[in-house]
Amino acid sequence: MRAVDIILKKRNNLPLTQEEIHFIIEGYVSGEIPDYQISALLMAICFNGLNSEERKNLTLEMLHSGEEVDLSQIDGICVDKHSTGGVGDKTSLVVAPIVASCGLKIAKMSGRGLGHTGGTLDKLESIPGFSISVSSKDFFKQVKEIGIAIVGQTANITPADKKLYALRDVTGTVESVGLISASIMSKKLASGAHSILLDVKVGDGAFMKTIDDATTLAKAMVEIGNSCGRKTVAMLTDMDQPLGEAVGNSIEVIEAIETLKGRGNSDFRKLCYEISSQMLLMTGVCKDKEEALKLVDEKITSGAALEKLRQMIIYQHGNPNVIDDYSLFGKCKNDVLVKASTSGYVSKIKTLDVGISAMLLGAGRNKKEDPIDPVVGVGVKVKVGTKVNKGDTLAIIHSNGKNEKEAYEMLASSFVISDEFVSEKDIILGIVE
Ligand code: URA
Repeated sequence: MRAVDIILKKRNNLPLTQEEIHFIIEGYVSGEIPDYQISALLMAICFNGLNSEERKNLTLEMLHSGEEVDLSQIDGICVDKHSTGGVGDKTSLVVAPIVASCGLKIAKMSGRGLGHTGGTLDKLESIPGFSISVSSKDFFKQVKEIGIAIVGQTANITPADKKLYALRDVTGTVESVGLISASIMSKKLASGAHSILLDVKVGDGAFMKTIDDATTLAKAMVEIGNSCGRKTVAMLTDMDQPLGEAVGNSIEVIEAIETLKGRGNSDFRKLCYEISSQMLLMTGVCKDKEEALKLVDEKITSGAALEKLRQMIIYQHGNPNVIDDYSLFGKCKNDVLVKASTSGYVSKIKTLDVGISAMLLGAGRNKKEDPIDPVVGVGVKVKVGTKVNKGDTLAIIHSNGKNEKEAYEMLASSFVISDEFVSEKDIILGIVE
């Protein structure tokens, strides 16, 4: 077999066989097939796509390129949740403790943030002392004892994806349903959970800008998951405005804690309730949506979900007192208000720009090696549809001085205010089962 023939085949829009996909992935991981040939193939895939069988075969080849986490030693149902990435997305910090307090097992490996989207690991590390580097032995012990652990990768998972993703990033080949679905699902399958809830973000702050593209991606991932024997459901949720209020690290953890205390922003709370209840339904813990939402509410009002988060922080060596005293997170030097320059209705929030503003302040990374400043970020005080008067606060910049002027200008121009009435947006846009 020759790589060039496989490239030509895809260029001519013909489907690749399982053997051909195996040859490509094995050859690329071993270093026998060079970057330039894989780049050409990736571009051909971007133009001509992958059919459902090719997507599954690519996922499985990528999965088998590394280790798989075996969760069979954990009693009960292991469930995972994955977001395709957005601005202010701290959902895992709320949903994981909720469903763990309902008896499901969360043995979760999360990622770091890159570009305008944040990562759960960076947010957790803003808790003083919190460790995301947990040995395999301690990871399993923790899940067995308290039902929840969120850690960095403990095994050599999907090395093919690591290599391919880095190449896609610099060759303009990220945006492809076939490549994204194989990339995400290979990692989810390798993490070992029995059930997988995918939160597919749609809008300006997401990979998928339109509901049609997001639906196609969601269907592709659900099909892969279910055909590999994992119960997989995708929710399509809005990313045309930041999720909740906080965009950063410690400020997002604080918002998550507030939500676990039964307070917090209503759109974010609604998303957490919907995702948690969907996880309870798909795992058979609850028989209908009403029962699931009621159980979620009970776990919030009784404080059981918050206690799960506290236990996880203690097990992972963080300071649990942050839950009761937010000053322990530390404080930035400057809080700068962004005010409305005119009266009217907020008609659009350029979500990608809000994410970039937070990144410029130091809340995120431009390059993989960039350091994170845990206390900086942006607090967004309005939603699409909010009526504002000239001079009202639209957002607050929490800054330690880095790129403050640039971030301010970008953030200030993120809000579009119009004279006409604008209705509020719904956070849940659809579900693919
Ligand atoms: N996230 C991933 O893990 N992979 C992609 O291809 C895109 C988003």
